Amino acid sequence: MSSEYPIAVFDSGYGGLTVLQSIVKKLPEYDFIYLGDNARAPYGNRSFQTVYQYTRECVQWFFSKGCPLVILACNTASAKALRTIQQHDLIDSGTPNRVLGVIRPTTEITGRFTKTGHVGILATQGTVNSNSYPIEIQKFFPELKVYQQACPMWVPLIENNEHQGSGADFFIKKYADALLGQSALIDTILLGCTHYPLLLNKLAACLPGTVSLIAQGDIVAESLAAYLARHKEIEVRCSKKAKVSFYTTDSAEDFDRHAGIFYGSEIHSEEVFL
Ligand code: DGL
Repeated sequence: MSSEYPIAVFDSGYGGLTVLQSIVKKLPEYDFIYLGDNARAPYGNRSFQTVYQYTRECVQWFFSKGCPLVILACNTASAKALRTIQQHDLIDSGTPNRVLGVIRPTTEITGRFTKTGHVGILATQGTVNSNSYPIEIQKFFPELKVYQQACPMWVPLIENNEHQGSGADFFIKKYADALLGQSALIDTILLGCTHYPLLLNKLAACLPGTVSLIAQGDIVAESLAAYLARHKEIEVRCSKKAKVSFYTTDSAEDFDRHAGIFYGSEIHSEEVFL
């Protein structure tokens, strides 16, 4: 069978581009297609039903383009929609296509990073409320203590390109302090939102030197490479012409103007109507 279809990478907006960047670096020979649902972002404060509905529509759009594999490069969508999509939609439709998230690959190696056994999670309100991180980490590392802090102002600051300004400092410190205030033993903080790597420098400046910050991009890229090696039936359906294309549900002009800071190079996108 000839390989003709790109691997799909999805986020509510720009954040998934931080993951796509790592994936393309790890797997440069594959084709990728990125969709940001910018018209409906942020997802972080929305209900389960809404995030599920929006995510499902985006997954269906990818499937209509022939993508055999969709990566939800959005923790909120992974926390609120992935399970239902995997356990109901994919099974009910009988499709051979697959959908993966970013929480599982992160949680299955969390124990490698901590010496104290106390791990903090910074994420959207939706991801925190879902308890996905504590539940998943307990499955792999029952001895770890997990603390969570929702950071509802961070995605809006980043989406509006205000995160480098001094106005952002107050909210960065506020949530970092609130997390560290839960235990003096936290030595590892997972950035449980794909937007947050853009805050790495400012965030590191608020933390004691003993605390490490872990972003997900490289973790997800490694995990995808391993998945493709294990699942040849999916891998043979993925095209390999080293082509990356970008789509947004909002203005392509706006997307192209902002996306570069997330992806690290210039982007030319197209607008789609779902
Ligand atoms: N980037 C998404 C995540 O990883 C969240 C952004 C949003 O709130 O839409 O959770």
